[in-house]
Amino acid sequence: MNVGQRLLCTSPAELPAFRIEAMPVPQPGKGQVVVRVEAAAVNPIDVKRAGGYGQRLLTLRGAGRFPLVLGNDIAGVVEAVGPAVTSWRPGDRVFGLVPTGKNGAYATHVAVDARWLRPFVAGHDAHALTAFPYTFTTLWQSLRKAGISEANARGCEVLVHGASGGLGRLAIQLLRRWGAIVTAICATQNVEVCKSLGATGVWDRKRQPLSGLPQCYDAALNFGAWQDEETLIAALKPGALGMATTVHPLLPNFDKHGWVGGAWRTRRDFQRVRALATAKGARYGWVVFKPEEEALDALHRLLSEGALKLPVGIAVPFANARQAFDHVAWQRPGRALLLPPVVCRR
Ligand SMILES: NC(=O)c1ccc[n+]([C@@H]2O[C@H](COP(=O)([O-])OP(=O)(O)OC[C@H]3O[C@@H](n4cnc5c(N)ncnc54)[C@H](OP(=O)(O)O)[C@@H]3O)[C@@H](O)[C@H]2O)c1
Repeated sequence: MNVGQRLLCTSPAELPAFRIEAMPVPQPGKGQVVVRVEAAAVNPIDVKRAGGYGQRLLTLRGAGRFPLVLGNDIAGVVEAVGPAVTSWRPGDRVFGLVPTGKNGAYATHVAVDARWLRPFVAGHDAHALTAFPYTFTTLWQSLRKAGISEANARGCEVLVHGASGGLGRLAIQLLRRWGAIVTAICATQNVEVCKSLGATGVWDRKRQPLSGLPQCYDAALNFGAWQDEETLIAALKPGALGMATTVHPLLPNFDKHGWVGGAWRTRRDFQRVRALATAKGARYGWVVFKPEEEALDALHRLLSEGALKLPVGIAVPFANARQAFDHVAWQRPGRALLLPPVVCRR
């Protein structure tokens, strides 16, 4: 038997506990590819899930019960392809998405649907590429929910909350490329980075309350904090395109209030806030990440054109996973990566 390894998050805790475990190298099923993973990313959702966040609802995807293999982003080399896969061959270098489920990205080998992979981009290595897929796909879905596209973005005033984070940085770069005028909301220490990425205006949330924002925006993206949702909607102008948020209470509602209470509160929260957006004529949506081919195609194209940057702040082996999780939890600059051990095949 060929033996690989995976990183298990053993139980929900504020200080995540990990164990490295041997596992059989997976066989690719129909439409699947087995990738030997060179790097996997740690996103804020992994840190939250390591603390027990989202357990109830994610159980529906087989992703709620500990021990968990976390992670949604990979870059590496194709080792084997399953029946009906024509797009990849062993030896191809790829990066892409692992859907949220029972088996995440933190393993030496991952079996993944061939549709969620894209070829390496010239000038980028595994580390650089792994930082993008989950975050870019979520951004792509956020823009669609907010009604913003390449076709209509030019000249639009877009407010981005959480602009200095991964989603926010990609939003600034893409929206600027599409000709939108971006106002970034961030903390004092991140003002310069938001400007350098192309934000026209920056609102320092530590120095100026968001309630002072002018009501002039065509669209808003909330990647910062749910408690600011209503204030951001208030900043939309009448007839605005829309607003999307990734920091909604869907998962915590079910964690805290159970199936019935969670469903009831989620409906109530969503409808209350959507009504505020609708009163402005704007569309409104909550984003729930899911793999998407269109987003991956767009990501590949934009990376090939050198249009996106997302620096890596730390890359550590599985044995030092806590360091990478702390890096994300403390919002240190740059994305965090985990590097699986290199295993010998027998
Ligand atoms: N729903 C989904 O499917 C989905 C998918 C991806 C991500 N997300 C969530 O979306 C959020 C952003 O993701 P990300 O990868 O961009 O995270 P990130 O890299 O950690 O960036 C988040 C940014 O939000 C700002 N922020 C932090 N705490 C804040 C607060 N209390 N009030 C206002 N702003 C605050 C910080 O910038 P400043 O301090 O400079 O303001 C930080 O840089 C995370 O919460 C993540 O879990 C959800």
